[in-house]
Amino acid sequence: MDVSLKDKVAVITGAAQGLGAALARRLADEGCQLALFDLKDEAVQATADETRKATGQPVSAFAGDVTSEDDVRTLFTQTVETYGRIDLLVANAAILIAEPIDQANAAKWKAVMDVNLYGQFLTFKYACAHMKQQQSGAIVQINSKSGKKGSAANSAYAASKFGGVGLVQSVALEMAPYGVRVNAVCPGNLLDSPLWTDPEKGLFTQYFKAGKVPGAENLEDVKAHYVNQVPLRRGCTYEDIGNVVTFLASDKASYMTGQAINVTGGQEMR
Ligand SMILES: NC(=O)c1ccc[n+]([C@@H]2O[C@H](COP(=O)([O-])OP(=O)(O)OC[C@H]3O[C@@H](n4cnc5c(N)ncnc54)[C@H](O)[C@@H]3O)[C@@H](O)[C@H]2O)c1
Repeated sequence: MDVSLKDKVAVITGAAQGLGAALARRLADEGCQLALFDLKDEAVQATADETRKATGQPVSAFAGDVTSEDDVRTLFTQTVETYGRIDLLVANAAILIAEPIDQANAAKWKAVMDVNLYGQFLTFKYACAHMKQQQSGAIVQINSKSGKKGSAANSAYAASKFGGVGLVQSVALEMAPYGVRVNAVCPGNLLDSPLWTDPEKGLFTQYFKAGKVPGAENLEDVKAHYVNQVPLRRGCTYEDIGNVVTFLASDKASYMTGQAINVTGGQEMR
């Protein structure tokens, strides 16, 4: 199947590392010109430099915060000034702060909602303003299986991701008359990503220390516990998500809007 995105202009938020950086490389390989956005100034610049060198595609980096309307407005204005248009938004930036509900810090709970939901609203707002004028475009929101099913001791993240599905469905209805499609991808656990593997802050370490996996004697036992929850018996990979993002961004998905697609190895089916 040809899903090439030759010469499409894509904005990716949260592109300094992890899935966002992997999607930058994948979309550049598919022919996209890129505007990468992240809080981490030096890291997003480094990702842009690496992606440009590896693929020969034009790649710009912008430092900013998805919760700042000024930063997001500037991102989209400068992207249009640089490339002349915006064909694709990959709304990827998110944070996860997991705390039991009775011990949750209210400011941290709100910060998760701010980045993961309000930040998405802002990027959707400015992407849609440009796409409405162009009468074309696609938005792909990076959601989670936690956008379909609750997540214990992780209520802010799940609530923000459930909210993301509502945002996608609503904006899909609103933008359909303008030829703009809006969909979400819901990854399963990306067990090789820094979110899980970081030796200090990663979820394997956190869950091991918290005794969340009964009987686990080391980090490998914690990982095996999460692999065993997946019917296809492996963690989700960046390539799995890149395949679906590329498809949803392309004309091959021209009859799909308002969907939240599970890419979970069968772990989530609704
Ligand atoms: N890692 C997983 O297992 C997993 C599973 C399902 C869904 N997801 C989703 O995939 C996406 C990427 O996750 P990841 O694992 O690559 O995370 P990550 O923490 O490695 O990367 C997230 C990036 O977003 C940036 N960011 C955070 N707050 C920001 C803000 N306010 N403004 C701008 N940039 C900001 C960070 O600096 C970072 O570079 C997220 O939407 C996440 O919810 C991840």
